[in-house]
Amino acid sequence: MKAAVVSSFGAPPRYEDFPDPAPAGDNELVVTVLAAGLHPRVRAQADGSHYTSTGELPLVPGIDGVGRGPDGLLRYFILPGTTLGAMAEQTVIDTRRSIVLPSGSDPVAVAAAMNPAMSSWVALRRRVPFRAGQSLLILGATGNAGQLAVQIAKLSGAPRIVAAGRNAERLARLPAAGATDTVSLDGKPEVVARRLSQAASDVDAVLDYLWGEPSAAAMAAIVTGRADRGKPLTWIQAGSIAGPTAQILSAALRGTRLTIVGSGQGSVSAREYLAELPALAEEIAAGTLHIGARAMPLAEVEKAWAAVGATHRIVVTPQQ
Ligand SMILES: NC(=O)c1ccc[n+]([C@@H]2O[C@H](COP(=O)([O-])OP(=O)(O)OC[C@H]3O[C@@H](n4cnc5c(N)ncnc54)[C@H](OP(=O)(O)O)[C@@H]3O)[C@@H](O)[C@H]2O)c1
Repeated sequence: MKAAVVSSFGAPPRYEDFPDPAPAGDNELVVTVLAAGLHPRVRAQADGSHYTSTGELPLVPGIDGVGRGPDGLLRYFILPGTTLGAMAEQTVIDTRRSIVLPSGSDPVAVAAAMNPAMSSWVALRRRVPFRAGQSLLILGATGNAGQLAVQIAKLSGAPRIVAAGRNAERLARLPAAGATDTVSLDGKPEVVARRLSQAASDVDAVLDYLWGEPSAAAMAAIVTGRADRGKPLTWIQAGSIAGPTAQILSAALRGTRLTIVGSGQGSVSAREYLAELPALAEEIAAGTLHIGARAMPLAEVEKAWAAVGATHRIVVTPQQ
């Protein structure tokens, strides 16, 4: 079969021949892959930088996707750590890590949205006790995960959703998705800090896709501007698109009621992720949750890798 094959962590995957897969265990199924999302997590898998990387090569990237099995059912699946990922004509899934999709589901829309949507859906439902009526700041709201987080926060009953991002055009579209305030992260650090402090220093929770220097600065701005320092503030670390480490002010932890938690693979169990998939798939199939998707044939995987930017989530389509 044909697949996207990574032979060296220094180069993008290439469209090449790869051995046909065969199921090994009782719950395994070979599926024809219809769509697989090119998420930041997949790029990190393919360049060996993700924290789950074992360094084993060659590998076919792709951590999730939509496929059809011999039973004719359309499934969304999440793959375990494997060298045969979703960016192939066929892959092996564990049916226990898959769900049958609602009828009428668009494979490209599901493959595009599930991974970025899961970040906020699972964080707010499973990782922290986020209740309807609480307010939320989303740092990095202009990315695909951030845009979906705005929509999911609205669905979760957040009356105030502050969306902070760098890209002006995408930021301007977020009020239509549910943001009640927007904060531009573009500009001099002291100006950005003032904007954040004014717009979000009293929020109940922060959903942070950035980390690195922008998050450290945002945390300092928010805790120093907080009027009620005894009011709990939950900082949810969900992504690190701006850097893997951040300098945390010790005074932020001592001087306010700040709790920092992470939400992702490991801090949330596979069982908990799986339990949330059907409801999330329903919302995507119903069109309630939406991001732009751009389908690209598997044969053009090198071109897909070269396309950067958060305007659309690229989805590789092996059957096209
Ligand atoms: N924990 C989870 O369960 C989970 C699930 C999905 C994703 N994630 C993580 O969440 C992060 C975002 O994923 P995504 O799918 O939204 O990626 P994406 O669609 O590629 O978007 C990334 C966004 O980050 C912005 N950005 C990059 N550097 C920035 C900086 N220094 N300051 C401000 N904005 C910056 C980009 O803005 P510009 O357009 O201005 O460049 C872009 O809007 C990634 O780290 C990903 O691994 C976590």
